[in-house]
Amino acid sequence: GLKTFWQGKSLLITAGPTYENIDPVRFIGNRSSGKMGFAIAETAAKAGAKVTLIAGPVNLATPQNVKRIDVRSAEQMFDAVQQHYASVDVFISAAAVADFRVADMAQQKIKKQSDSDEMTLKLIKNPDIVAWVAQQVDKPFVVGFAAETQNVIEYAKDKLVRKNLDMICANQVGDNLGFESNENELVLITAQHQQTNPLSSKSQQALDLLSFIAKNEAIR
Ligand code: C5P
Repeated sequence: GLKTFWQGKSLLITAGPTYENIDPVRFIGNRSSGKMGFAIAETAAKAGAKVTLIAGPVNLATPQNVKRIDVRSAEQMFDAVQQHYASVDVFISAAAVADFRVADMAQQKIKKQSDSDEMTLKLIKNPDIVAWVAQQVDKPFVVGFAAETQNVIEYAKDKLVRKNLDMICANQVGDNLGFESNENELVLITAQHQQTNPLSSKSQQALDLLSFIAKNEAIR
């Protein structure tokens, strides 16, 4: 069962968005609320796991018995993950990490150019945190998320293989689903198994997800 598996296991979770600074007062962000990752952290801690939660900028209380590390950017999240991944049994990457960051963050507030109707920001690729963890020889059981507005399962399966993940949780976003919402519908996918969990609260999804890992990690 859930408790038998998770009791004493250590779990690292990333959650929330990342903010990529443009200048001291502006950033590029996304609509991730962090609720899914926080629900997983809370449920796992209740089941007896030792939980470290690396959180992007979110407005959520820290669940009981969870060690929380706050970060802002993808690079800061990557640093925190690099410091912690090697000592855990399972890594769940629920964060909506920005794919790109601003190439040269301005040290002063960027002024409006009154002579121009356009401005260009140069972006460079952020490290893919979950793919990096999945490449390490001492990697934990690695779980990713795939939030898509279309072809959810197909893209998720592709990501599972391409990023060398042990498991991926596919969720349809948009139309009030997923991001910012309190409810979610997840399809849990490993190389061997696929399980669809119909629309329910994020805490119910967390419970089903942790039970699925307990089942599949055990028989891996
Ligand atoms: O490729 P895509 O961003 O759709 O992949 C989503 C999965 O990859 C999520 O688990 C997310 O946390 C992770 N990810 C990451 N680092 C990135 C981009 C995505 O860990 N730079």
